[in-house]
Amino acid sequence: MSKNSLAEEHEEAKPISEALKRFKRSRLVLEPSLGVLGFFLVCLCLLWSFFYFDYRSAAKRYNLSDKSDRFVWLKLENNKSSTTISSNRVGFLEESGDKCDVFDGDWVWDESYPLYRSKDCRFLDEGFRCSEFGRSDLFYTQWRWQPKHCNLPRFDAKLMLEKLRDKRLVFVGDSIGRNQWESLLCLLSSAVKNESSVYEVNGSPITKHTGYLVFRFKDYNCTVEYYRSPFLVPQGRPPRGSHKKVKTALKLDTMEWTSSKWRGADVLVFNTGHWWNYGKTIRTGCYFQEGGEVKLKMNVDDAYKRALETVMKWIQTEVDSNKTRVFFRTFAPVHFRGGDWRTGGTCHMETLPEIGTTSLVSSETWDQLKILGDALSRHSNGSETVKLKALNITAMSAQRKDGHPSIYYLGSLGPAPLHRQDCSHWCLPGVPDTWNELMYALFMKQEASSSRRVKEANVTVS
Ligand SMILES: *[C@@H]1O[C@H](CO)[C@@H](O)[C@H](O)[C@H]1NC(C)=O
Ligand SMILES: *[C@@H]1O[C@H](CO)[C@@H](O)[C@H](O)[C@H]1NC(C)=O
Ligand SMILES: *[C@@H]1O[C@H](CO)[C@@H](O)[C@H](O)[C@H]1NC(C)=O
Ligand SMILES: *[C@@H]1O[C@H](CO)[C@@H](O)[C@H](O)[C@H]1NC(C)=O
Ligand SMILES: *[C@@H]1O[C@H](CO)[C@@H](O)[C@H](O)[C@H]1NC(C)=O
Ligand SMILES: *[C@@H]1O[C@H](CO)[C@@H](O)[C@H](O)[C@H]1NC(C)=O
Ligand SMILES: *[C@@H]1O[C@H](CO)[C@@H](O)[C@H](O)[C@H]1NC(C)=O
Ligand SMILES: *[C@@H]1O[C@H](CO)[C@@H](O)[C@H](O)[C@H]1NC(C)=O
Repeated sequence: MSKNSLAEEHEEAKPISEALKRFKRSRLVLEPSLGVLGFFLVCLCLLWSFFYFDYRSAAKRYNLSDKSDRFVWLKLENNKSSTTISSNRVGFLEESGDKCDVFDGDWVWDESYPLYRSKDCRFLDEGFRCSEFGRSDLFYTQWRWQPKHCNLPRFDAKLMLEKLRDKRLVFVGDSIGRNQWESLLCLLSSAVKNESSVYEVNGSPITKHTGYLVFRFKDYNCTVEYYRSPFLVPQGRPPRGSHKKVKTALKLDTMEWTSSKWRGADVLVFNTGHWWNYGKTIRTGCYFQEGGEVKLKMNVDDAYKRALETVMKWIQTEVDSNKTRVFFRTFAPVHFRGGDWRTGGTCHMETLPEIGTTSLVSSETWDQLKILGDALSRHSNGSETVKLKALNITAMSAQRKDGHPSIYYLGSLGPAPLHRQDCSHWCLPGVPDTWNELMYALFMKQEASSSRRVKEANVTVS
């Protein structure tokens, strides 16, 4: 069911949406007594006034008095790297851009964004279509990432599709990975005129949230695929004779069952992280297994390290480095204020990024990043290894407290209750588009340097 699209990650969102539906149904049946009606009116007035005053104070703070001078102060602050792409930086794709760290930069206001509109994209879960389902500020769609020491190429969907001709691009990971995958589908399909030439190969709808989805771009004979695997290692029944409290086990030394399906892809984009916490593992009776043994004492961080080690080893040994490029996206921070997703944390008042600081992000996020960073640096070294690139988006995304669906993730059911917010996924168009622009830049960079190598090889041969 599409209404529950994000419920898998927020298990408790599901009962809410169903309860709301039931409520709507029952409201049609019940004869509203005057008392009930009056109560609702009073509630509505109260809610409205809260929103109104909150909006007023936010508007005053940011001086959003009218559209034209909304961002004067931001532009002042960012004048050096303002809306036009600075001409004194090198292009990342040029040879002189080789040393540029594209993840080191700033968000700048750019009215040529967003790159697509959600209502033009058929491949979006309702939970990401924030502006269509009630979010009224659109600022969050108009920030461009500007690296400090170079300029990114603008995303060219036609060129990307051309490069992907006869190829497979595969995302493997949790629902934030799916968020990025849907963003890429929207970005790429914006360059395809014939709508019906982009389709799911098994006819599955985008609302399917288990297993995998494979979208084919027929004119380019390429597929853009998503495999759900929140841990990257398989979760299954524990071995016989395990302790009673062990309901499921994560097999830390084995790769996800579906890996045989995506091993041969041309581009692999991994992510994992949001599920590696106590609440989604041990609290639910999910323990960690190595070999035939469940390790009751192993903590989540150690398990996460072991699993990453398994993934990295698999990449080195099972992936054909001549064919496959591998990206590993780092942890995408969450922005719950005053609680977490189960205890009423909120982000619905955030309409602007926190430029230049990441103070809102918890220390666990940086601990997570460090574990992954250590694993990546141990394995993205050495000439014989598969080309493994980090999409190091944690710090840049940490500034984007304004990018989450908050109360606008239930789609046509209307806004969610204020204490049930989604501050971990991202609205689309939005922040994941930037992750894909960065992946695009790195992909094009590799294309450029490998064609340079071929040319040089030709020169030495002749
Ligand atoms: C708000 O903007 C107006 C111009 O529209 C300006 O005159 C005023 O000083 C600004 N106030 C603050 C607090 O920046
Ligand atoms: C921003 O920079 C441009 C040229 O670099 C200059 O013309 C303009 O006055 C600056 N704007 C502000 C508000 O400082
Ligand atoms: C489509 O791409 C696949 C590789 O993904 C290739 O084997 C196949 O020959 C291609 N089909 C056509 C018609 O080019
Ligand atoms: C659009 O794509 C569909 C499915 O591949 C195809 O049957 C149809 O002929 C295409 N239409 C045009 C105008 O190319
Ligand atoms: C990669 O290509 C090189 C040269 O084309 C070849 O020698 C090598 O065996 C290939 N490696 C794999 C893993 O196929
Ligand atoms: C990612 O960037 C942060 C700083 O923004 C840095 O501390 C970290 O080492 C980087 N991690 C990786 C894997 O590149
Ligand atoms: C690469 O590997 C060598 C030897 O294994 C090690 O000394 C070096 O520090 C590694 N470099 C990075 C960036 O991890
Ligand atoms: C390299 O040389 C081969 C044959 O000598 C040619 O087919 C190929 O196009 C050349 N590649 C480039 C990039 O110039």
